[in-house]
Amino acid sequence: MISTAILRNIYITVMVGTIVLAVSACSSPEGNAADGQRWYRMHNCHACHGETGDDGRGPKIGGLKMGYHSFKKRLRKAKTPIMPAYSEERISDQDVADILAFLKAQQ
Ligand code: HEC
Repeated sequence: MISTAILRNIYITVMVGTIVLAVSACSSPEGNAADGQRWYRMHNCHACHGETGDDGRGPKIGGLKMGYHSFKKRLRKAKTPIMPAYSEERISDQDVADILAFLKAQQ
């Protein structure tokens, strides 16, 4: 017969695993603004949004209030065909967080 202690251990392991998975799915990577500035220029964001995100032809994105997940969604699939879609192969999730940190640091 399986002891209740073993069952309890299995239960705890599954519960902890579920919580860890749920938390990691919701959390956002920590962004580095200095790296973000490099990616921002490398991917030519400045061509449309300006060097600091507010002097280009595209919308003002300097000092952006957007959260990580909304921001990532907009990069992966823009609202209009004017802005290119940036797949994960082009801009990794970490680089997305870096670019966001850079934009948030602007005025
Ligand atoms: C070819 C021009 C162009 C390039 C290059 C471009 N964008 Fe955009 N971007 C736009 C336009 C136009 C919009 C508004 C329409 C839309 O969301 O598709 C926009 C919208 C956005 C928005 C949403 C702004 C808001 O307030 O809703 C974000 C964020 C953004 N761009 C970030 C970036 C980043 C980061 C890059 C570089 C990885 C980039 N864009 C490259 C033209 C561009």
